[in-house]
Amino acid sequence: MVQPKRNILITGGAGFIGSHVVRLFVNKYPEYHIYNLDKLTYAGNLENLKDIEDKPNYTFIKEDICNYEAILEIFQKYNINGVIHLAAESHVDRSIKDPFTFAQTNVMGTLSLLQAAKVCWDGKYEGKRFYHISTDEVYGSLEFDGTFFTEETKYDPHSPYSASKASSDHFVRAYHDTYGLPTIVTNCSNNYGPYQFPEKLIPLFINNILEGKPLPVYGKGENVRDWLYVEDHARAIDLIFHEGKIADTYNIGGFNEWKNIDLIKVIIKTVDRLLGKPEGTSDHLITYVTDRAGHDLRYAIDSNKLKNELGWEPSLQFEEGIEKTVRWYLDNQKWIKNITSGGYESYYNTIYKYLFK
Ligand code: NAD
Ligand code: DAU
Repeated sequence: MVQPKRNILITGGAGFIGSHVVRLFVNKYPEYHIYNLDKLTYAGNLENLKDIEDKPNYTFIKEDICNYEAILEIFQKYNINGVIHLAAESHVDRSIKDPFTFAQTNVMGTLSLLQAAKVCWDGKYEGKRFYHISTDEVYGSLEFDGTFFTEETKYDPHSPYSASKASSDHFVRAYHDTYGLPTIVTNCSNNYGPYQFPEKLIPLFINNILEGKPLPVYGKGENVRDWLYVEDHARAIDLIFHEGKIADTYNIGGFNEWKNIDLIKVIIKTVDRLLGKPEGTSDHLITYVTDRAGHDLRYAIDSNKLKNELGWEPSLQFEEGIEKTVRWYLDNQKWIKNITSGGYESYYNTIYKYLFK
């Protein structure tokens, strides 16, 4: 039987992780058509995809996932038969200041995509796939006791961001259980690498070191995160999209836990070294500040299910990953300056500043 052409809708493809996923799919699968749907909020940046924007199997669509009528039309017009859903409000600190936007985008936006897929596919689910990208933050917080989040860990979100992601995960599973929609959910740990918006710890701190600005460490810097290089996450998404079991959940992580303060010291050391400055030059920039409200103590992902069932493992050692990442930000200061100078700043970001800062 001739397989129908894969027309894949990737949402949030102009963001950090989404741009790596779009790039991987466009380059690896010239026989597919990749539709990158993104609203271009403050976090969406088409500069991230300059190298593939002219490829014949790639189309960018500027749209809001919450606009159900428009989304349904896109499903029908382009005969979408696969979805990889990454579009979201992703920054915990913003969610504390503006929870409504998080509920709107992350919950209602996901619902709008699910409903469009259900209506468009109309029970003909053969070969179809709705893959929802989620976070380990839905599981809550661990103690320093060597335990891990597994796929069986109960949801216990604490921030408005993680509550909105948890809610969207539940809607995705409900659409499978109620309507049979062929869904998959993955929950991943902290990503790092090129093209990450400089509000997140690693790019923010690299940029502040370059500018000689303080490095705001929340609380005592003792919180622990599990870091994964973004291209390894994109590889996992590719594998799971093609070979993951419908209705299943997979955890994705790096088995790479770092206490924030230790990670920050590695970043400082790496930046100073690559700039040819003596070790310790930028240590004085470390500034302890008021803790994030509801700050989860520790995240650690057990991704053995993914390893055992589909053979995925992180390919990059952290030392190599962080070196590559720091080098990328040093080599691409134009990219970061375009964001931090405000030259790039969108309307959304402007009103965010006035309303919530
Ligand atoms: P990001 O903030 O860098 O990018 C989000 C993208 O979504 C942006 O391009 C933005 O314009 C777009 N977007 C936002 N609202 C939209 C809307 N209403 N309609 C259409 N597009 C919209 O986020 P990221 O860090 O790349 O995260 C991507 C996904 O992965 C999110 O779902 C996030 O929850 C999840 N995730 C992120 C991490 C991480 O460490 N960054 C880890 C695990 C899971
Ligand atoms: O765990 C996955 C999650 O990782 C994703 O779902 C989120 O989308 C992503 O933003 C990320 O969330 P975190 O809150 O862990 O990432 P962030 O980079 O904001 O912070 C990492 C840690 O560093 C966290 O413990 C808070 C701390 N931090 C962060 C910033 C921005 C600081 O100490 N100072 C800072 O200025």
